[in-house]
Amino acid sequence: METVILEAGSPEQIRSAVTRAGRFLNRGQVVALPTETVYGLAACAFNPTACATVFEAKQRPEFDPLIVHVKDKAMLEKVADIPPEIADAVNRLINEFWPGPLTLVLPKKPAIPDIVTAGLDTVAVRCSKHPVFRAVIEEVGAPIAAPSANRFGRISPTSSSAVMSELSGRIPMIIDSGACSEGMESTIVRVEQSGKPKPFIHLLRPGPVTVEMLKKLGKVITTEPLSPSSEKPEAPGQLSSHYAPRTPLQLLEKPSDFRPQDGLSYAMLSYRGQPKDGYIDMHPWHEVEILSPGSGKLPEAAVRFFFALRKLDQCGADAIIAEPVPERGIGLAIQDRLRRASAKP
Ligand code: TXA
Ligand code: MG
Repeated sequence: METVILEAGSPEQIRSAVTRAGRFLNRGQVVALPTETVYGLAACAFNPTACATVFEAKQRPEFDPLIVHVKDKAMLEKVADIPPEIADAVNRLINEFWPGPLTLVLPKKPAIPDIVTAGLDTVAVRCSKHPVFRAVIEEVGAPIAAPSANRFGRISPTSSSAVMSELSGRIPMIIDSGACSEGMESTIVRVEQSGKPKPFIHLLRPGPVTVEMLKKLGKVITTEPLSPSSEKPEAPGQLSSHYAPRTPLQLLEKPSDFRPQDGLSYAMLSYRGQPKDGYIDMHPWHEVEILSPGSGKLPEAAVRFFFALRKLDQCGADAIIAEPVPERGIGLAIQDRLRRASAKP
């Protein structure tokens, strides 16, 4: 199959791309679409055959459920039942963070096919703020299931060329809106009544809506990563090996953890490229990518993260050595992805 890239830059291009994507989706085909986090591989969420195509194209195991994207709260109510005891808390989260990079896990409505939720009785729902993605949902008039547009377990795509290198020949169309503005997948949470005014917010995957931001609305509980052998993990993105480059990756805690072997070449994924941090000058690196040069800004590091990881994966080094980033704000999500990228399958 030939994979066509449609550029969606000017208003005319966007209009024509949205119309074509809508036609494809309504026919039960899949299309890769930009979101503010990463590119997603979209299918109509009410069409089980189309959703099966998503699993097939990504080579995704069927136990790993898809996120369903909605236009607004009215569409959310078509896919999820909001239990009365958490309705206030859910409303507050939605008012604060939607549209945006927050995914809520809620009891599902029967209209959502089992294949989407991998047989779970819950559905993960998100409302993207990307104008092209929003226009496509509007065009289709129905919720859209979309996991990240990469092969299962691989590096998430933050540009159309990254989608191309993951899924070329396996999907008919990619809508290209340039680089994603967040660069990191949405935060996933489950809300639970706590008996107190503030609910429990279980953090299933850290992301751009940070713990610091969620804390204002509830008591944030961070769960332990699940083991890769776990059959039905709460958020299978929590599988310990994920986001993995083909090149082995080692995440250092301190510079002295690096023990180079003779004859091997190493690439460096640096946070801010500062000699005083002790990483950048400790070896004649085969190649270096710096996430946020200078004083180090975590949101900038997040935006560049998957792009830099993909570049180093292709540079021909025998291993990638990653410097840790501070675990605050979006840094928690970056460290989470680095740990999973470094875990053995
Ligand atoms: O930012 C994002 O969330 C992107 C864009 C495309 O929207 N999507 C994304 O999807 O990251 P994906 O499939 O790569 O990651 C979704 C994660 C998976 O780890 C999946 O296991 C988990 O969400 N998930 C889906 N449904 C779930 C459910 N009912 N309960 C718990 N986890 C769920
Ligand atoms: Mg993914």
